[in-house]
Amino acid sequence: MKVLQVASEFAPYSKTGGLGDVTAALSAELARQGAEVTVLVPRYAGSLPDGAAGARRFAVRGLDSPMEVIELTTPGGPRIWLLDQPRLYLRSGIYGERGEGYADNPYRFGAMCHAAAQMALEFGFDIVQAHDWQAALTLEYLAELPQAVRPATVLTLHNLAFQGRCSPDWIAPLRLRPERFGVEGYEFWGDVNPLKGAIGIADAITTVSPGYAREILTPAFGEGLDGLLRGVSARVTGILNGIGGEWDPATDPLIAARYEAGATEGKAVCRAELLREAGLDDAGLRPVVGMVSRLTRQKGIDLALRPLERLLERDTIRLIALGSGDADLEAGLAELAARFPARASYQTGYAEGLAHRIEAGADLFLMPSRYEPCGLNQLYSMRYGTLPIVRAVGGLADTVTDFAEPAGTGFVFEEASEAGVASALDRGIAAFAQQGSWQKAMDRAMRRPADWQAPAAAYLNLYSNLTTR
Ligand code: ADP
Ligand code: GLC
Repeated sequence: MKVLQVASEFAPYSKTGGLGDVTAALSAELARQGAEVTVLVPRYAGSLPDGAAGARRFAVRGLDSPMEVIELTTPGGPRIWLLDQPRLYLRSGIYGERGEGYADNPYRFGAMCHAAAQMALEFGFDIVQAHDWQAALTLEYLAELPQAVRPATVLTLHNLAFQGRCSPDWIAPLRLRPERFGVEGYEFWGDVNPLKGAIGIADAITTVSPGYAREILTPAFGEGLDGLLRGVSARVTGILNGIGGEWDPATDPLIAARYEAGATEGKAVCRAELLREAGLDDAGLRPVVGMVSRLTRQKGIDLALRPLERLLERDTIRLIALGSGDADLEAGLAELAARFPARASYQTGYAEGLAHRIEAGADLFLMPSRYEPCGLNQLYSMRYGTLPIVRAVGGLADTVTDFAEPAGTGFVFEEASEAGVASALDRGIAAFAQQGSWQKAMDRAMRRPADWQAPAAAYLNLYSNLTTR
């Protein structure tokens, strides 16, 4: 089975969120299970991976000008094709700078899709899997080919809110077929919508949790595409993400001490070190609440600011937050850290090491998302024995069991409101005081199976159903 994965992120070389983790871990596990996997991803600024200097390069026809591919291979792992076009990709951001997306993003990712479609044909791939809107036009270009030579296509939705909508002025530069600019095609309220076009023509559509696969068929979560998705719902499935190997407290080199279920002494070391690193007072018997997040409306951080403020006033928690995004949310967290310098800390920017140390050193992890296609941080939290506080939505509801249940691994609340977040935080704080039952929940959370073996097998099964049609 020859599989081409097309994506805009691939960890550790490029990552702004969970997408990069997923493309890397999924393709590694697919390769381990015997698929011949290639990943096509742009080569952005920043250091080139080991082995890139002497790597094979080959040319691929671009939309207007030629592009190059740097080919990296690892024994037993996926082959990586870094699409090298400095004018398009060697910039200081992946999608934009200072909160502004690059104006030519349709072209930057359209060029990647155009290259992907050519190579899919040229190299005889059986399956092309396109991740999110950035890879969606691959399906548009492939649809121009006769059925007999075309690979089967999978469109994976990691976040339906981002659709790549842009002006019809892009139709010509992207060399899209004008006749597809209509209700049946990629037209959406007068704009070009790459994701919409791909949903209409993908052989299979996957989302990253079964819960989100159901939710996107409803107006509340469908982002304007629920009607279209209901029409193709027979082709929509949810396959839950797993955890990649670099998120394991037993081996994690980025945390202060290693630990695992049944031997958690190291977690106390990680907790003390995290408080020290963040410059906070000793937590004593108070829980340390961690947050690592893109700061956007999706994540519900706005609903958490006032409840956290009240808890900090009462001196019942320590708070350690990491994240960047919307200016008002950054300001809200910075204000908490400034008002309570010994109780709360906030770091902006992107910091992989600190993200690991928060997962390891915190007691509770707060993730009050309005919607969450899957969510990886709650999975990482459970693996690190840090009980997540999550809203009952999408992948969060699929993965976290409430503390009140015998199999509890975290705290689940329903209502997207300050009151909802506050009462879940209160429950978490109260539960932390009962160390006997807390330790048991921690143990269950840490032992919860969440690797990529089963999800990768589910993708392989889907691929084989598509190729034996
Ligand atoms: P999403 O993809 O919607 O952002 P996920 O929970 O699936 O949410 O994945 C988020 C990933 O991004 C996690 O690996 C998390 O650790 C990482 N992350 C988010 N913000 C930061 C940050 N500021 N610094 C380091 N890692 C971050
Ligand atoms: C998106 C979603 C997140 C998911 C990630 C990886 O960024 O917001 O819920 O975990 O993709 O699939």
